Amino acid sequence: EKAGYDHFMLKEIYEQPKAYRDTMGSRISADHKQIVLEEVQMTKEQIQDIHNIHIVACGTAYHAGLVGKTVIESLARIPVETDVASEYRYRNPIITPNTLVIVVSQSGETADTLAALREAKRCGARVLAITNVVGSSVAREADDVIVTWAGPEIAVASTKAYTSQLIAFYLLGLYLAQTLETQEAGAIADVIQALEKLPEQVEAILAEAEVVRDYAERISKHEHLFFIGRGLDFNVAQEGSLKLKEISYIHSEAYAAGELKHGTLALIEEGTPVIALATQEMLFEKTVSNIKEVAARGASVMGLAIEGDDELKKSVDELFTIPKTLPLLTPALSVVPLQLLSYYASLARGNDVDKPRNLAKSVTVE
Ligand code: M6R
Repeated sequence: EKAGYDHFMLKEIYEQPKAYRDTMGSRISADHKQIVLEEVQMTKEQIQDIHNIHIVACGTAYHAGLVGKTVIESLARIPVETDVASEYRYRNPIITPNTLVIVVSQSGETADTLAALREAKRCGARVLAITNVVGSSVAREADDVIVTWAGPEIAVASTKAYTSQLIAFYLLGLYLAQTLETQEAGAIADVIQALEKLPEQVEAILAEAEVVRDYAERISKHEHLFFIGRGLDFNVAQEGSLKLKEISYIHSEAYAAGELKHGTLALIEEGTPVIALATQEMLFEKTVSNIKEVAARGASVMGLAIEGDDELKKSVDELFTIPKTLPLLTPALSVVPLQLLSYYASLARGNDVDKPRNLAKSVTVE
């Protein structure tokens, strides 16, 4: 059932182009200009009445929600907060009938996420679920459901579920924008066009999957490392860091690159590996200067940038690139080399890749 792959995780990483295509599927109009979300029953008036959005989830799904915040805010101009479910439900959040609460859960059975959903409904909010399991508890209890068609995810470390959650957020952000007319029709069509290119761009990254292997083997000998980035790169860094910790047991921390000098820089020593994401055009120069800061203190830096941004080569020890896309869509590409990096690091350490110690696939206890 691993279809020739050594591990479910690797199989699921390779299933991502299909997961992207299936999740977009019939949700893009035949003329490629509009999003069709038939499963979202909210009327135009109800969408116009949304004052704010809360995205609530755990773990990797929370990391997808961090990207979702930027996606929805920039496309639909609705204020969004993203919270970890186990915090949200106990912090007496301000939920009104004009709040849309979006819960994100691969399994649809995570106890804290389900409890947050119930708390949101009790306060009169509408709840939209993004889930991978049709008929799960979260799917049954939410008002609207967007199913991510990633197919069953077996490995404990989430890969294709995360990326299809990103696709769901792009579709939803565009749908809200087109309903609220916060973007011109041409701008929406441009994003859709870029979105439709993602599956083949992921295929191109996967065709060269082995390029990160050497570097993964090198970091597998370390006990601590950092991921840094700004904006969406920071959110992908958070996911990359979780993935690495979860299956390789290497301690790592994801840091907003601009925060380094407020304390963390003290931890950089000769040889400390730093994985720096620099895919955001607007933030590129700023990130490069943070890379120089860590390199000057002896860090061994792996850069992740957009194809053609060779300028970074001068400041890093290793440079990996991803194909060019819109800045908003880069997370759907940049996370893939990081998934591969943790896979190969876990393998190099001889760990049980698919079943990391202490963890369960579905966390149904609080
Ligand atoms: O099924 P869910 O999406 O609700 O699960 C949430 C987290 O438990 C899950 O994403 C976890 O963080 C993954 N093992 C990370 O790879």
